[in-house]
Amino acid sequence: MLGGRSVLLGVTGGVAAFKAAYLARRLVESGATVRVIMTRASLEFIGPQTMAAITGSPPYTELFGTETVSPHTELAAWADVIVVAPATAATMARMAGGESDDLLVATILAFTGPVVVAPAMHTEMWEHPATRRNVTVLAADGIHLVGPVPGPLAGGDEGMGRMAEPEAILEAVIAALHGGDLAGWSVVVSAGGTREPVDPVRFLGNRSSGKMGNAIALTAARRGAAVTLVTTAPAPTHPRISVVPVDTAAEMAAAVWEAAAGCDVAVFAAAVADFRPAEPAPTKLRRADGPPEIRLESTPDILAGVAALQPRPFLVGFAAETGGTAAAAGKLTAKGVDVLVANDVTTPGIGFGADSNAVTVFTAGGSEEWPRQSKDAIANRLWDLVVRARSH
Ligand code: CTP
Repeated sequence: MLGGRSVLLGVTGGVAAFKAAYLARRLVESGATVRVIMTRASLEFIGPQTMAAITGSPPYTELFGTETVSPHTELAAWADVIVVAPATAATMARMAGGESDDLLVATILAFTGPVVVAPAMHTEMWEHPATRRNVTVLAADGIHLVGPVPGPLAGGDEGMGRMAEPEAILEAVIAALHGGDLAGWSVVVSAGGTREPVDPVRFLGNRSSGKMGNAIALTAARRGAAVTLVTTAPAPTHPRISVVPVDTAAEMAAAVWEAAAGCDVAVFAAAVADFRPAEPAPTKLRRADGPPEIRLESTPDILAGVAALQPRPFLVGFAAETGGTAAAAGKLTAKGVDVLVANDVTTPGIGFGADSNAVTVFTAGGSEEWPRQSKDAIANRLWDLVVRARSH
């Protein structure tokens, strides 16, 4: 999610500084290049060597006396996002007051991009009127605050003021970078392959893993949308994703139709069975009874049900094809969708179960080929396209 991004991590002097090491590691694992500024007080809590080993470059600690002529402006020009974790009351006060007498606050003042701050302090300090004032000022300045949360604090105390967990801070960094361009959107995503019972132990299914739908739901949530993910597959967790687990096409239809009324965008990434056994056997079919005749009937067309809504949401359909994607060209109009994403699931390394995909995207304006890339990257590109299309 952070591939190619430059993240500047500011660590200040609180006991939660030890968790900053894990945050640095998660940022690196997410693809970011990470540089670290450590305040003098933070060096009382965690060694610079730890940060150097995790990020691959020694942390910056001084505004003056280094070989770099102007470390604060150079770092500010380098960074795409700054995250301060943990942020002490003192650092937040200096940020709110614009007091740039240390490297971290000087760099923040020289920086024009998004800044994420994860406060950590004792409850009394967090609730003190001075801190309340500073939080208000920082929020008004456009700083993204994440946490604090209630829980155990330093010295055996308990209460509000604990730093948000590194995963939550990572999410806030991702959201800050994307600018929350889907904030206020309500999105429905169908994902996974449906399972149609033959008898109580067997089903007709397909090879869909749900990974593409999951990536679409997660990227939308990370960009600020409220997402309902109707899925047959294990789902990602995110505070803005509400998961509706389903099994059959009929269950998926009921859940999607309920969620889609009034939503802004519906994405149909699920591989839905077109046919199901008309009369599933109530008890297990026995070998001794010989090969059964299984009569099939049609399942509901979930997409068509949403396309008939008045007003209807912006619609994105998917088409899993074999032997090229040409057959999908007519589905844009046949299905009445705004965007149709087609892939050839027989191409090795993409499609069902894979972590990457290569797709042909059809819109009223024509078609584009998106070469092989991660499903996350495809999902983000799809949302970029939807944002552009909806703003016209
Ligand atoms: N879809 C759906 N409900 C169904 C079947 C499909 O919502 N009962 C959606 C899929 O999630 C997908 C789109 O419709 O977004 C196209 O699915 P596809 O199977 O390619 O469409 P079909 O008309 O079934 O095409 P084909 O003739 O290739 O089977």
